[in-house]
Amino acid sequence: MPVVRFVREACDVVCPVGTNLRELALAEGLQLYGLKGQLGNCGGCGQCSTCFIEVVAERDGAALSERTAVEDQKLRRRPPSWRLACQVLVLDSVAVLTRPQVGRDSLAKQLQKACLEPLPIAELSDEL
Ligand code: FES
Repeated sequence: MPVVRFVREACDVVCPVGTNLRELALAEGLQLYGLKGQLGNCGGCGQCSTCFIEVVAERDGAALSERTAVEDQKLRRRPPSWRLACQVLVLDSVAVLTRPQVGRDSLAKQLQKACLEPLPIAELSDEL
């Protein structure tokens, strides 16, 4: 199963293929939203542009679902590595930075480490 490495939060989360990244982050209690999104967001409909994540590293180059038409529209003026978490399905192990618009410079060491460390794949347990 894929592992999502949340760089800012320094945690790895195992999830089934096809998991929505926004739902995964919220289920783990991670702060996905900046101040604007905390005050109000669209609940995952792709309309508020507040659930930004940056793709830092991918295990095999295509760890997330392709950009949606909503993302093409909403992310026109953002770096190509940014996605809207609510539009993303996890397909393989990936390292992401939540809220890339906030305090990115202070995370330089963690980002470098995330790029260099191989991303794991969780094995299914025999006990399942
Ligand atoms: S939650 Fe509103 S765009 Fe993702």
